[in-house]
Amino acid sequence: MNPTPKISPPTEHFLRRAAEALRQGQLVGLPTETVYGLAADGSNSEAVQAIYRAKGRPSNNPLILHVDTAQKARRLFAEQWSDVEDHRWRQLSGLWPGPLTIIGRKHSSVLPEVTAGGDTVAVRIPAHPIARRLLGLLDFPVAAPSANVSNYVSPTTAQHVADGFGREVAMVIDGGSCEVGLESTIVTLGTEDESATVLRAGGITVEVLTAALGEAVLDSDRRIDLREDQRTETLQAPGQFSQHYSPRTPLILVDADRGEPVPDPRSDAPAERREKASIAMPTADGSDARRILRICFFPPPRPMSGYAEVWVLSSSKNWCEVAANLYAELRRADREGFDRIEIDRCEANGIGRAIADRLSRASRHTS
Ligand code: TXA
Ligand code: MG
Repeated sequence: MNPTPKISPPTEHFLRRAAEALRQGQLVGLPTETVYGLAADGSNSEAVQAIYRAKGRPSNNPLILHVDTAQKARRLFAEQWSDVEDHRWRQLSGLWPGPLTIIGRKHSSVLPEVTAGGDTVAVRIPAHPIARRLLGLLDFPVAAPSANVSNYVSPTTAQHVADGFGREVAMVIDGGSCEVGLESTIVTLGTEDESATVLRAGGITVEVLTAALGEAVLDSDRRIDLREDQRTETLQAPGQFSQHYSPRTPLILVDADRGEPVPDPRSDAPAERREKASIAMPTADGSDARRILRICFFPPPRPMSGYAEVWVLSSSKNWCEVAANLYAELRRADREGFDRIEIDRCEANGIGRAIADRLSRASRHTS
């Protein structure tokens, strides 16, 4: 693949050019430790609208504002808030910089285009040093959704951004592969009557949030049962969509082979197992009619047969590596033209909560 001219190394020179492009209302591909963002000046209404247009995102789905310091972040929220909000803000903002987005009542100066007309705003200080250096050059917050076309897999390299938005962006700053690889955890500050609530699982787990707050944090499964591009109404807490992050290749979740004997498909094994075995079987002439890709989190205990290819996300059995490699491998699978992807199912604990959440969405194809 030819290098894309708009991908720029993260030198002082190019960061200054990126800052200038943002000041002029242009879009820039921004590396963060979670995923790449499609960044624009969050105080410029036209620039924010350009994000929605480029992504094909409905205007009722709000954006996250990114800044480099907690002082700048605090100025985006309501001037006056309750002791409860204030306490939670102090504790949660102490986890920044990092893969955490905090939602609270917004300051009157925050554009309605950013919040989709709602009275709350989502704010994040990313940990990526290049993102923070760029944000430090700016005196406005940067609005940035994940730099994927609506409903497609989020980008974890500069090339992914160029693949989707090569024409729309002034430049993409190359910050390497994203270290976390999944979108940030989103938590609401709540109110005196409502606990802080996780709207999207991510790199900062509910356990970490609970420990930081010293009180229970709700793990919400509030999801909106529509595709991102089909939503019509404005909702108080837009949160998430039930189908999102999908590769084009149909994806199904299967149980990982943990080393126990493979059941005979003709026996009274559970239906799911039988189906899987028959799907994976080669045809009578020895060829595989459908090209099925098997993605395993960790190296399988024995060779797997019946698949066109078997890919392993972490040969060192590291969950963070699974998360970091997941999106890039789903995009690669799409490029290589398989008929179906079968990927490990996982338990929703720790970072596994975020992985399980993304995969369950990706496996829910509507058509
Ligand atoms: O890791 C991330 O969060 C990345 C990087 C670039 O920072 N950004 C990201 O943005 O994932 P986006 O737009 O793809 O996802 C943000 C989610 C959306 O589901 C949106 O509905 C929700 O946050 N959101 C934003 N503002 C909100 C608000 N005020 N209330 C409820 N949900 C909100
Ligand atoms: Mg997104």
